[in-house]
Amino acid sequence: MSATPDQYGVIGHPIAHSWSPFIHGLFARQTGEPLVYRLYDVTPDLFRSHVLEFFSRGGRGLNVTVPHKVAAANLANELTPRAERAGAVNTLAVRPENRVLGDNTDGAGLVHDLRDNLSVDIAQRRVLIIGAGGATRGVLAPLLMLQPAALVVANRTPQRAHALASTFADLGAVRGCGFEDLEASKFDVIINATSASLSGEVPAVPAAVISHDTVCYDMAYGRSDTPFVRWAREHGCARALQGWGMLVEQAAESFCLWRGVRPQTAPVLAALPRDGSPSPH
Ligand code: ATR
Repeated sequence: MSATPDQYGVIGHPIAHSWSPFIHGLFARQTGEPLVYRLYDVTPDLFRSHVLEFFSRGGRGLNVTVPHKVAAANLANELTPRAERAGAVNTLAVRPENRVLGDNTDGAGLVHDLRDNLSVDIAQRRVLIIGAGGATRGVLAPLLMLQPAALVVANRTPQRAHALASTFADLGAVRGCGFEDLEASKFDVIINATSASLSGEVPAVPAAVISHDTVCYDMAYGRSDTPFVRWAREHGCARALQGWGMLVEQAAESFCLWRGVRPQTAPVLAALPRDGSPSPH
């Protein structure tokens, strides 16, 4: 009795260094779910046609990464509330009558990693998130749900931070600012959600935001310390962490949406060779 395995994959550009096939392969083995998971390197002009063809040929689900997350939200026939709120989609799943559901598991992935894997408290803490692009958009609502004392979005281009913060102001204490406005503030938790690591850079945030109690978390990850992690450590933070756990946890949330079972993440996190150059979600 050999049924054809269900087809899944990740679509992005570039995508060659993605860990998702490795992670989903381990999830499939662990849960006994019959599926295959491939990489699709697709440029923005071909994104829509590629996705529609994938589903019309019987594909069951796709992860979506840079630069297609907003295009995926526009393509989906329906969105989960969290994807609607984020305005970006990292997971597509086929529904009856070939309708395509868009979800965003990035925020849940970050919160799982901070709370369950790393025991980092957000409630009643002062939290700084650096960057105001898609990566920040995906995680603001779940972070605000944890009721931080303050959530500050700081961005190189301050207007983008102001605009983003105002979109989420109904959910809690969030405000936007530029890097220079941070001079006098210390934070308990600092999250780097910029794409600066891709070019080996560190956002020009004043080091005064770090105290010896601060936990610094980089959504990027790599075999060795990312530039942000190095910078945070050099300035005396309590803990400097990379985003490997967020990567695995968002994948587990996607897998759960597709297969109805949430795989255990600890063995997968332990199996990651932590190889490759820094890359964002
Ligand atoms: P993503 O979807 O990955 O978040 P994006 O929407 O292009 O991508 O956003 C990238 C974010 O990283 C932005 O906040 C960007 O700042 P600007 O809005 O000022 O462009 C930020 N970023 C990228 N490179 C950076 C750098 N070298 N220093 C500081 N911020 C940087």
